[in-house]
Amino acid sequence: MSLADLKQEALACTLCRLAATRTQVVFGEGSEKARLMFIGEGPGKDEDASGRPFVGRAGQLLTRIIENGLKLKREDVYIANVVKCRPTVDGLGKKDRPPEATEVTACSGYLRRQIELIRPEVIVTLGNPSTRFLLNTTEGITKLRGKWHEYNGIAVMPTYHPSFLLRNGGDAGNTPYKRDVWNDMKQVIEKLGLTD
Ligand code: URA
Ligand code: URA
Repeated sequence: MSLADLKQEALACTLCRLAATRTQVVFGEGSEKARLMFIGEGPGKDEDASGRPFVGRAGQLLTRIIENGLKLKREDVYIANVVKCRPTVDGLGKKDRPPEATEVTACSGYLRRQIELIRPEVIVTLGNPSTRFLLNTTEGITKLRGKWHEYNGIAVMPTYHPSFLLRNGGDAGNTPYKRDVWNDMKQVIEKLGLTD
């Protein structure tokens, strides 16, 4: 199966109740040959509306991390989420919420197959849901970030979610959490040999 086939399957998915309230399925985007993959939590309002991952405020911060921090083009990496449809409180489309365990389980086949098809050298998990899912743990991001882990032979670097950075100090300034993310990205740069 190709990534395009898998996307077609996901676009028609009704495996969990999020199918009933989504505007669009947000499959993921980027290069099929990406050496680096980012995995977030799930679509928010802007992503649900556009069908593209990480395009809202958190997405703009992620794009800056990729382009200004790692010095890569956004289209050369791959960006996906644990769940492909937007979870909101009571399905009302107002307040975002983290995906529930049943939703993560229902959606997990898509992410697992995306990873298998792309086979990146490095995965960066953003925040708790993607980190816990890939590393099969209930441990928190604060403890797991900054160190290399492994998923099916692929190096995994967990780091803070850009939404968390925005909630804790906002866009401006050099907060301790931002410094942590930058230190994590430096390890990714080194692992991929992106230094010159
Ligand atoms: N360089 C790329 O072109 N893509 C990646 O994913 C990582 C490094
Ligand atoms: N937050 C996520 O985790 N994923 C997105 O696609 C957008 C915001």
